[in-house]
Amino acid sequence: MMAAKTSIDEFKNLLNSSNRILALCGAGLSAASGLPTFRGAGGLWRNYDPTSLATPKAFQRDPVLVWFFYAWRRHLALKAKPNRGHYALAELAKKKDNFLCLTQNVDGLSPRAGHPESKLRLLHGSLLDNKCFNECGYIDRNNLSDPVCPALAPAAEDYPSHQTLPLLDPNVPVPSVKTEDIPHCPNCKTGLLRPGVVWFTESLDGEMLSEVNDWVDQERIDIMLVVGTAASVYPAAGYTFKARDKGAIVVVVNPDADSSRGLTPRDFFFQGDASEILPQLFEGVIGKMDEYGNIL
Ligand code: APR
Repeated sequence: MMAAKTSIDEFKNLLNSSNRILALCGAGLSAASGLPTFRGAGGLWRNYDPTSLATPKAFQRDPVLVWFFYAWRRHLALKAKPNRGHYALAELAKKKDNFLCLTQNVDGLSPRAGHPESKLRLLHGSLLDNKCFNECGYIDRNNLSDPVCPALAPAAEDYPSHQTLPLLDPNVPVPSVKTEDIPHCPNCKTGLLRPGVVWFTESLDGEMLSEVNDWVDQERIDIMLVVGTAASVYPAAGYTFKARDKGAIVVVVNPDADSSRGLTPRDFFFQGDASEILPQLFEGVIGKMDEYGNIL
């Protein structure tokens, strides 16, 4: 099969003349902010079975361990700063009326980059939301406490490398914390609070999905941007196929050559770091960006 296009100038022309744009982002967008991805080199799931941590069953079995994992990820996310990739997408959203960005990221960096809420969907929820595990309906949004509660303070310490999680190393004992000391639901007073993220085996928010599907089905889509995602988790990954069915040219931004698989000669592949590539790709619409993400 012939390779996808790689010309930035050609893409800039396409972007200028495009109206409806859909983006799907993943952990790679936040890699330049120092947050580990899930899969691939240095990825979180490389050494750990995600079902041992990121499922309702895992939480039922050991809520303290699961909370330690999420308290640590909250700490990393709160310490991290949005990068030029987040800012470039946020600016594009301000300039293009018909741009919708779907992110699988739960780190809060796109909202913090000023991405307009109406043009951003957090497909997998947010690390900064805490909700009732018993589903009484309670949700505490954008909770910025770090640690999330005093008992989880060991997870909010800085470790020499963000890519090791000593608490999950079988040789490092998890600090002994009692279930009573992790967050409880202040509303129903019976359930534990849990992170407001979508776990494996759980469904995405139905209302959000039908709204996104309506947007996708409305009309022709000009561009489908696929940024920093292995596109292996559904339903998120399915949007690339849906957009293609609606006529979209697919544009992949990823350092991994394998992520260009399936692209056709009408598509684009930009191999590299999203924080470097996105500001260049969008420059014609958003203007030049400095190293901190400010438009010059
Ligand atoms: N810029 C762009 N892409 C990058 C960068 C970078 N600097 N660094 C790494 N990547 C790419 C990797 O090559 C990989 O293709 O980002 C991708 C990250 O893939 P995953 O780790 O699988 O992350 P993601 O696709 O977001 O995972 C989807 O899986 O575990 C669940 O719920 C979790 O939302 C997550 C979902």
